[in-house]
Amino acid sequence: MKFEEEIGRRRTFAIISHPDAGKTTLTEKLLLYGGAINVAGAVKSNKIKKTATSDFMEIERQRGISVATSVMGFEYLGKKINILDTPGHQDFAEDTFRTLTAADSVIVVIDVAKGVEPQTEKLVKVCRMRKTPIIVFINKLDRIGKDAFDLLDEIEGKLGIKVRPLTWPIGMGPDLKGVYNLYEKSLILYTPNSTERVSETVAISDISDSELDRQIGEEEAEMLREEVDLVESVYPEFDRSVYLDGAISPVFFGSAINTFGVQELLHCFLDIAPSPLPKESEERVVDPYEDKFTGFIFKIHANMDPKHRDRLAFVKIVSGKFHRNTNYKHIRLDRNIKFSSPTAFMAEKKSIVEEAFPGDIVGLHDTGNFKIGDTLTEGEVIHYKGIPSFSPEMFRYVNNADPMKSKQLAKGVDQLMDEGVAQLFVMKTTGRKLIGTVGALQFEVIQYRLKHEYGASCTYENHNVYKACWISCADKEQLEEFKKVKYRSMAIDKFGRDVFLADSAFTIQMAEQKFPEVKFHFTSEFEDQKSESV
Ligand code: G4P
Repeated sequence: MKFEEEIGRRRTFAIISHPDAGKTTLTEKLLLYGGAINVAGAVKSNKIKKTATSDFMEIERQRGISVATSVMGFEYLGKKINILDTPGHQDFAEDTFRTLTAADSVIVVIDVAKGVEPQTEKLVKVCRMRKTPIIVFINKLDRIGKDAFDLLDEIEGKLGIKVRPLTWPIGMGPDLKGVYNLYEKSLILYTPNSTERVSETVAISDISDSELDRQIGEEEAEMLREEVDLVESVYPEFDRSVYLDGAISPVFFGSAINTFGVQELLHCFLDIAPSPLPKESEERVVDPYEDKFTGFIFKIHANMDPKHRDRLAFVKIVSGKFHRNTNYKHIRLDRNIKFSSPTAFMAEKKSIVEEAFPGDIVGLHDTGNFKIGDTLTEGEVIHYKGIPSFSPEMFRYVNNADPMKSKQLAKGVDQLMDEGVAQLFVMKTTGRKLIGTVGALQFEVIQYRLKHEYGASCTYENHNVYKACWISCADKEQLEEFKKVKYRSMAIDKFGRDVFLADSAFTIQMAEQKFPEVKFHFTSEFEDQKSESV
């Protein structure tokens, strides 16, 4: 197959949702379609359950499994599909944000009864920032849920996206009869507890076809006609180019557990979702069809076995063909590295690959050379954008609890931060290390891993920080003045960038008034950023 065709047939995407909406179930059903797994339940074990907060072995075990399921590749109808796994647990949201940088599109799963939940809001916001095309799947139609129109209003309101339903539910909960496919003008009948991949589909000429009355009953058919009329008049025609710009999201209804509405979603996804897209770097926009290889690291996974301290760095191939045993330039380190055992992921299996194409994710064995965000090329100096750090929610100083092991602690903290487990800030005045995380669970994970992988012990000390703000200022003098006045609250992040640790929203407001030229950013990437600050 030609290089261009290989790129054109790739679909690399992530499924995101609030925990429990059905992400794992949907992922599993998609894998079943691709024949990538044979039994339901195979992906389930990847979930870090909410109950696992203090069960470290469980977390470790699940971390191990999630290496295998970090990327689930499979072939279906001539397409190469790469599903990027995102951790369900909300304490690992930062991990999900980073994974989204490697996704060319996303599917958002929403529970029909619960509607838009907080985690969904946060994740969709990140997608909107980078205009990622979004498809919405409304799940659990076999349960009584919100009215479809109300739900679409809620999605538009809370997620700030425009929607266009492409299937429409006929009933709900115990009265669920099926969905009408507006995209293909067909009727899909619902059979509870189905594990069949193909639901029964009835061809109808259009919505006025009397076959509809025979299949679902006159009353239901009439109601469906009214609702479809309303859908057609309220929502704009579906336009793929608008979807690809991230400006409209097609919506599907179904029930993942009953394998209902999933095929319609998958087929439409294959039709409309983008193949790998050009990517902005600081230097220029890189097109996937360029013949020289480039890629970036978006995830690093440590080996669970403390005897083998190697890690797996996941590279998303942006352009050109990647070859095994070929020298590539590690831009940050300014040196060549070659990889003898690059790993590809097909469902639960891992295998060494000779070559890989744009859109693919390859796992590279790493002995500590990589940080998240690193770029690999054939020599050209390129720094990929779009791996921002977000302000953590919780901050604690890390203290050494074993003076004999201070080196191990420093190394452990350093490496765990490279992996992106949490963010490290070093206070300018004292040199103390402050760890910032999204949730409390990471602090426990860090403590546990420092002990088991590095033999180091640490204690924590709470530090009251409202937000970590990355700062920018066109006026150099004012910036210096600001840093001088606020020197006690200034720290540097892992990349040497200045960060202001504000203790309240009020502090930021006051600072904004006093230093009008200084801009405060809750993510490390922002519009007026200078290239040297990344
Ligand atoms: P997540 O990855 O988004 O966290 O959700 P997951 O797929 O694990 O689904 C959460 C729960 O919702 C699971 O039940 C799952 O079986 C159920 N579920 C998924 N899709 C549907 C659906 O279409 N209809 C209904 N009624 N339920 C659905 P659980 O009891 O938490 O787990 P399990 O015991 O079934 O594994």
